Amino acid sequence: MPSLQSYHTFGLDASSQQITPFSDIESFFDARSRYPHNYLLGGGSNTIFLEDFEGQILVNEITGIEHNETESTHELRVGAGENWHQLVASCVDNGWHGMENLALIPGSVGACPIQNIGAYGVEVETFITSVEGVYLDSNTRFTLSHAECLFGYRDSIFKHELAGKVLITHVNFVLPKQNQLITTYGELAALSDPTPLSIFNEVIRIRRAKLPDPAELGNAGSFFKNPVIDNAHYSRLTDEFDDVPGYAVGSEHTKVPAAWLIDRLGFKGRAINGVRCHPTQPLVLTNTGGATGKDLVTLAREIMSSVKARFTIMLEPEVRLVGRKGLIEL
Ligand code: FAD
Ligand code: EPU
Repeated sequence: MPSLQSYHTFGLDASSQQITPFSDIESFFDARSRYPHNYLLGGGSNTIFLEDFEGQILVNEITGIEHNETESTHELRVGAGENWHQLVASCVDNGWHGMENLALIPGSVGACPIQNIGAYGVEVETFITSVEGVYLDSNTRFTLSHAECLFGYRDSIFKHELAGKVLITHVNFVLPKQNQLITTYGELAALSDPTPLSIFNEVIRIRRAKLPDPAELGNAGSFFKNPVIDNAHYSRLTDEFDDVPGYAVGSEHTKVPAAWLIDRLGFKGRAINGVRCHPTQPLVLTNTGGATGKDLVTLAREIMSSVKARFTIMLEPEVRLVGRKGLIEL
């Protein structure tokens, strides 16, 4: 039973019946037909294998970057198995700007549209023109336009109607030459005379200071999404907690940092065996060594029930939890 430990950044000790990398659609379908249960994986930075998986893990290694320059844009068609951060770094190197705020996010290009990765004031959907892939039931190809992807905060059609039903093979991006630099988020505002390179370097510096490096301490980034609540609910919270942060989402909703809710309940540094709520960013749960899926589920459920009891907010996991037969809900 091959180990999955190095295939997911949380690093729990789980295995599967088979791990098969593929670099084209034909070999993907060929391998997939040999097992009744399959799980498609990119970099494993948003997936946690809680226990041994009774099936095959198919690891996307479709590579290739095509570049086309127009008078006003750089267009890119990128293979889903390319590494996200390497793509951003090479764009900055080449002078193709816009995605520098998304530096150092782990994982593959193919997964970036799925939860519409975002950081430091930018979401990847800004640059995605279309997503190419194959429907798993019919082996027919598709290209979905930006509008058809139904992007939202950590959300897209790939988490709903198309969840588990497609292989994304390529993502198409357009980077306008007249791109505006975004320095509105937190510490980025302190940059004087920002350039794409200085934003790229500063995002890397901030992330290294705040977030644990999965190569040193197993984790999957933010374990939960930031909850979006209606304004009346937010207003009730501010009556009780005058320092609760909130960011307007449209005119009727407010996004509340889950890190604040978890911090306020005193979870920072709290551990259940090998799983710990990270001391500098409590939205991140870490594997301090020898953790089990059960430890993780226990701590995550404890956080969820405490947040619900104190703030009447249901936290939703951002990560995918995989059990014996496939995805499971908390
Ligand atoms: P995986 O975990 O391999 O897969 C995620 C899901 O996508 C799975 O359901 C999988 O089946 C599916 N999938 C993967 N590839 C394909 C494909 N080609 N076709 C169809 N389905 C596919 N995210 C952010 O948005 N912002 C951040 O700032 C951020 N910071 C992070 C920091 C750390 C330290 C870590 C560990 C994670 C962070 N993340 C962040 C989360 C994660 O990096 C992103 O969600 C990333 O896009 C996941 O990519 P992956 O290839 O590792 O996905
Ligand atoms: N906070 C606390 N205590 C802490 C840390 C943070 O109260 O110890 C509060 C503060 O009010 C702070 C707020 O939480 O202002 C937000 O913290 P931070 O800027 O670190 O961002 P986040 O909301 O926790 C989100 C994303 C990250 C992304 C950063 C930067 C989600 C679920 N997470 O985190 O994405 O990198 O913003 O843009 O939206 C990921 O998705 O895996 C991820 C790491």
